[in-house]
Amino acid sequence: MTSLGIGLIGTGYMGKCHALAWNAVAAVFGDVERPHLAVLAEASQDLAERKAQELGFARATGDWRSLVADPAVDVVSITTPNAFHPEMAIAALEAGKHVWCEKPMATKLEDAERMLAAARASAKVAALGYNYIQNPIVRLIRRLLDEGRIGDVNHVRIEMDEDFMADPEQLFYWKSEASSGHGALDDFGVHGLSLIWVLFGGVRRVCGHMAKPYVDRPVKDGGRRAVETYDIATTLIQLESGASGVIALNRSAWGRKGRISMQLFGPKGTILFDQERMNELQLYVAESGKTQGFRTILAGPQHSPYGKFIPAPGHGLGFNDLKIIECRELIGRMRGEPALLIDFEDGIRIERTVDAMACSAQASAWVDVG
Ligand SMILES: NC(=O)c1ccc[n+]([C@@H]2O[C@H](COP(=O)([O-])OP(=O)(O)OC[C@H]3O[C@@H](n4cnc5c(N)ncnc54)[C@H](O)[C@@H]3O)[C@@H](O)[C@H]2O)c1
Repeated sequence: MTSLGIGLIGTGYMGKCHALAWNAVAAVFGDVERPHLAVLAEASQDLAERKAQELGFARATGDWRSLVADPAVDVVSITTPNAFHPEMAIAALEAGKHVWCEKPMATKLEDAERMLAAARASAKVAALGYNYIQNPIVRLIRRLLDEGRIGDVNHVRIEMDEDFMADPEQLFYWKSEASSGHGALDDFGVHGLSLIWVLFGGVRRVCGHMAKPYVDRPVKDGGRRAVETYDIATTLIQLESGASGVIALNRSAWGRKGRISMQLFGPKGTILFDQERMNELQLYVAESGKTQGFRTILAGPQHSPYGKFIPAPGHGLGFNDLKIIECRELIGRMRGEPALLIDFEDGIRIERTVDAMACSAQASAWVDVG
């Protein structure tokens, strides 16, 4: 059997993350064949050639369509800005390639629905980049919930905050354009919803609000341009399980660097997690007496697949490691093994929820998720 041929489109923040995952997956897991890094596409030929050299790809192109058509490519990693995802993913699926596309699936629900239709027609694996669900600590949370350690969760509170849009003088770039989507909802909300999806399932209805902390931003060549997206979004949710919840998002939150805080409350206890301290969780089990309190559980090799990276507990995985785990799950899905992955079938539920959140914010009313 020839090894899996990889095509990578885009080499920014997430492109490098995918490239590291494809480079490392065989070494970390030891049970998959080393993929062949076949072709890398960037916005220009020069940039593509430089990045192919750095990231270990055999060939480079400034034309992503030639990558998608290339017979050496079996799976296409799509790590370009949001607005490109539908066109690139659909072309790759129509060319008979598997797809690993960064979140959000698309910036409009109708585009996401077209992507799902293309995935169904191709019968190829079409997966989304929802790396936070791959954290061994999140898998532990899932197990604790399954074991009923805190009972049936009745309230979920998720906050995602970063400060990369906090400076009012931050230059206008694609994340402030309406073509990138609603703003914090597509950028961050989808991550919170991916965690809700794997821990609890779907969302029944939502009541949202979106805000723009700054009305305009400077442009590179002088002057200012009106901001078209909402950097802040807050939504009340009701899960299909019946639990109530809140998702609060802010990408202009000074001091917050990579916060995804989850508070899960049940009749028998509470679980706390924060991505800024991604190698631990806090568990409170209701009890009487004088030793009540949260205890900290550190990630270790007993929390699969942590041990594939490091034999020592408490030493910690990093953000890029979550992508390596996601890459292994993707290969597993291609082999027909059970895999923890948000594919286009699950992803459309997240997109419908985001759409409902935005509609609800516009209507100032509760909206059922379609
Ligand atoms: N899963 C996560 O945790 C996570 C984190 C950050 C970003 N993302 C997602 O990843 C995607 C990319 O975000 P980013 O922060 O890496 O952006 P980025 O701006 O750092 O990188 C985008 C890359 O795409 C390239 N590109 C643009 N047009 C292209 C074209 N026509 N052909 C080939 N390459 C082209 C750019 O040159 C750049 O290298 C977004 O959809 C974003 O939502 C996901």
